[in-house]
Amino acid sequence: MRRKVTKAIFPVAGLGTRFLPATKSIPKEIMTLVDRPLIQYAIDEARAAGIKEFIFVTSRGKGALEDYFDNSPVLEQELRKKGKTDLLDTLKDTNMDSGAIAYIRQHKALGLGHAVWCARRLINNNEPFAVILPDDVIAAEKPCLQQMVEAYEDTGGCMVAAMEVPAEKAPSYGVLDVKDDMGTMVSVKGMVEKPAMDEAPSNLAVIGRYILTPKVLQSLNRMKSGAGGEIQLTDAIAEEIAQERDVYGYRFRGQRFDCGSKAGFLQATVAFGMAREDLRDEFTAYLQEMTALSKAAE
Ligand code: UTP
Repeated sequence: MRRKVTKAIFPVAGLGTRFLPATKSIPKEIMTLVDRPLIQYAIDEARAAGIKEFIFVTSRGKGALEDYFDNSPVLEQELRKKGKTDLLDTLKDTNMDSGAIAYIRQHKALGLGHAVWCARRLINNNEPFAVILPDDVIAAEKPCLQQMVEAYEDTGGCMVAAMEVPAEKAPSYGVLDVKDDMGTMVSVKGMVEKPAMDEAPSNLAVIGRYILTPKVLQSLNRMKSGAGGEIQLTDAIAEEIAQERDVYGYRFRGQRFDCGSKAGFLQATVAFGMAREDLRDEFTAYLQEMTALSKAAE
């Protein structure tokens, strides 16, 4: 039987420069989509996929992120006194079991690959693990990582979430060189991080969900820097292919929002706002009014 994926690494040590000045004092992952921080969406997705241990790779200035997972006895007491049971339940959903979270420090933002490598001592031999980038938020009926974990039970190897992107966007992503296209899954014969537009091997881009084997951590030991001078996770996964080990791309069902960019964050805010029953009517009416006004102004 294949080993279950029960650990996930959340690399959250990036500088978040695209959201300056906000990220001067707020970690990007604490920024709020409707009323929940990005990290909460990532944690919920991980739990749905059966993850039991949550490893955060953090850096200076991420204290608010650590505090977010603490219990809040004073607040809870106040809510209890006021009979606000629904809010109490909302708070309870954010509580984590003691010992379920580990924090590891990345002392210098040397790249995503380096951030994942920082967690190497918390991953055992032969133990598969997930990596979740909380700034990729995915709206899906079945959470994306759960879809991947189920597929992984059949395939093993390494698996990356993949989606089709227009050719002009490929240079912003890691891109898959496809060996066999089996529909939902593709097997991969190469991966390129941030290729030039005319050099992208396909239009299948990697987004922030991975299931990896510890061998990837061994490749990262070599600390080779790649695109943008950073230590790239893509390069370490590509090394798996070079060693003739299986790597798969998984076309997840769902809509991904790049909440690391301002436009993506705003789009997600609209989509998640409209999906909320308690906000839908008022919010949709407002959006329709705005659209009509801007059309009239054209
Ligand atoms: P990004 O490429 O979005 O970088 O990282 P960033 O620093 O967060 O944001 P910008 O580009 O400056 O606005 C993708 C993910 O990898 C993590 C980030 O925290 C984010 O979750 N990361 C990146 C690290 O943990 N360490 C790094 O050295 C680089």
